[in-house]
Amino acid sequence: MTTRTITADAPIGIFDSGVGGLSILRHVRALLPHEHLIYAADSGFAPYGGKPEAVVAERSLSVARFLAGQGAKAIVVACNTATGAAVKLLRESLPELPIVGVEPGLKPAAAATRSGTVGVLATELTLASAKFLHLRDQVADASGTRFLLQPCRGLVDQIELGDLGATAILEMLRGYVTPLLDAGADTLVLGCTHYPLVQASIERVIAEHGAAGVTLIDTGEAVARQVARLLDAGGLLRAADAQAPARVAGWTSASATALASAFNSLIGIDPPVSETAFAAPSTLEHI
Ligand code: DGL
Repeated sequence: MTTRTITADAPIGIFDSGVGGLSILRHVRALLPHEHLIYAADSGFAPYGGKPEAVVAERSLSVARFLAGQGAKAIVVACNTATGAAVKLLRESLPELPIVGVEPGLKPAAAATRSGTVGVLATELTLASAKFLHLRDQVADASGTRFLLQPCRGLVDQIELGDLGATAILEMLRGYVTPLLDAGADTLVLGCTHYPLVQASIERVIAEHGAAGVTLIDTGEAVARQVARLLDAGGLLRAADAQAPARVAGWTSASATALASAFNSLIGIDPPVSETAFAAPSTLEHI
């Protein structure tokens, strides 16, 4: 067994089934601009949301091990579906690393709603996971909130195609969001990290419906704060006056061009992007 020393200068590893986790990376980068970041998009296996839990758990473990092999000092599971299916397994398998998961923001939604009805947009697998259902029951019991669960089949595939303003996305969102508004939801939880990327289209559907004062809940900023807290607690925050500038690198199990283009259009940066099958390397390399 190899042991490794985790240092503050090591990168934070962030992964998702595809480009959705960039909605988390942008918050991590804004809050922690001195940190090196490595982003892994398992786009070759996206979407995770319609796959069996065991398959998603296995893929998540491969990607997380890959990031650990690249020298990550912490791992952000920037995917609600992978968190529901695998965060426990990842913590057991990589006990030396702080691991931060994401889950649909039901608590902030319960605090925000005035009608008492909240719509939750997420993948089928997230909404069926024991972790999510436990959270839903807990928050519903404590707050009396009614949660309407809306699986958004096909939406991640469309977003992965890269044209975020596509009519197909708007039409899909009309089909998923309108019934929630009709049922009195005044708060919508974006329970998949891909969905903040199409927030403009969601807002358009709400405007078309004529619903006023609908709150959208995205936990990206809270996740970034949790990453900062954990690194700080472990003495692993990279110094603001570190000599070398912070670097970002991307890895994908599909097309490097597609991930590079997502970095450019969503974050406005052009980091090096490489293709990989996400098999954990046997030697440690830093970005
Ligand atoms: N971004 C992932 C999530 O937050 C999408 C999962 C999928 O690939 O279906 O759940």
